Amino acid sequence: MLFTKEDFGDDFKWGVSTAAYQIEGAHNADGKGLSVWDVFSRQKKKINSGHHGETACDFYHNYAEDIALMYSMNIAHYRFSISWSRILPQGMGAINYKGVDFYNRVIDFCLELGIEPWITIYHWDLPQVLQQKGGWVNRDVVQWFGYFTECCIKLFGDRVKKWMVLNEPMVFTGAGYFLGVHAPGKKGLANFLAALHHAALCQAEGGRIIKTLRSDCIIGTTISYTHLEPLTNRHKDIAATVKVDALLNRLFVEPLLGLGYPTNDVKILERIERFMYPGDEAKLAFDMDFIGLQNYTREIVSHAAFMPFVRAKLIKANQRNVPFTTMNWEVYPASIYEALKRLGSYKGIKEIIVTENGAAFNDECIKNTIHDELRINYLKNYIQQVLRAKQEGVNVTGYFVWTLLDNFEWAEGFHPRFGLVYVDFDTQQRIIKSSGKWYSDFIRKPVIVPLP
Ligand code: FCB
Repeated sequence: MLFTKEDFGDDFKWGVSTAAYQIEGAHNADGKGLSVWDVFSRQKKKINSGHHGETACDFYHNYAEDIALMYSMNIAHYRFSISWSRILPQGMGAINYKGVDFYNRVIDFCLELGIEPWITIYHWDLPQVLQQKGGWVNRDVVQWFGYFTECCIKLFGDRVKKWMVLNEPMVFTGAGYFLGVHAPGKKGLANFLAALHHAALCQAEGGRIIKTLRSDCIIGTTISYTHLEPLTNRHKDIAATVKVDALLNRLFVEPLLGLGYPTNDVKILERIERFMYPGDEAKLAFDMDFIGLQNYTREIVSHAAFMPFVRAKLIKANQRNVPFTTMNWEVYPASIYEALKRLGSYKGIKEIIVTENGAAFNDECIKNTIHDELRINYLKNYIQQVLRAKQEGVNVTGYFVWTLLDNFEWAEGFHPRFGLVYVDFDTQQRIIKSSGKWYSDFIRKPVIVPLP
């Protein structure tokens, strides 16, 4: 390998990311309320193979072993999310202290082992009771989310200093309220635009609440960013790419930076005005300490006359004669470089942390070993592109692999295995994959040998 961890500097943060619903299980233990994902994954034909996350990796009961495993792998930064309905079963109001205890134990054990906890406040699992009131489509979500944020900071902010407000809002609003393929399974433009505006308000409002309650916290939020290229140089494909880029990549970051929604490039977004109150435009902005960039792949865009609203479509990787993962996402390391360069070029972005990057492959467990060379190559090549962006001046200060454990991959169920650690879902046995060993060697602290 042509580079080492030292090339990134001593302060660079190396970690792993997870999300509550994807690993915790214990979906109704100790007073937890149901979330939209508990309900959605029990509906027919929503999740591949009828899977659901009721047990998942049972991290709720195995957290100590899993954190100890992380420690044994030299992982010094752990990003995870709080299940809203575990600490607030009614979405608002009374706190479930048994749920709070669980996160206290996770946080305290991390700190004891010298692992820094990084919390994502919302990683897609809205309490079902709030969905019954309209969920993200109801403007009251700004109050509900504000209260949840306040609880998280008051309960855990004494020990946790790194916070992220939302996980990939474009994905939970787009897939959950426009396409209907993620929880809560709602469809249509009106649902989407309302959910989008309320999520964008919460993104900034969450930041303000954290700053007010604890000025010693470092605040960020995460966005998905996919590098896009037009299929051809024809004007129509280029125009289609501009639109998709505005929707997939710019929709949440630009309002945050005070630039408003990218309505010039996607006219349909003008209809968002229906949901805007006087003064909202200013409320969408907040000066984050960092932006969490989540990048996996590149997409190729072509003009498609029949696609409503955007007149564009993505050409899937398996139709393009390129390497791809179990998710049918192209393996294209330079996508993370392009994403970093582009985000880094916004004036208002001070610091970027790669809060997710990783790959699912068809791992085979043979005699208790998993030789996942494809994942090692993926990680090496993507990390090298992060270094390239850093060396060209982008202020990228950390990298978190998605993810520690094979887990519940939303609508895809348990088939795509993204973990550095293999999970046998029947026995809950964990086995560190070759990629996990590679990552832990790569990030190992140098052994300091004292001079005689
Ligand atoms: C991201 C999600 C994360 C995981 C990865 C593969 O979009 O934030 O929960 O599913 O994709």
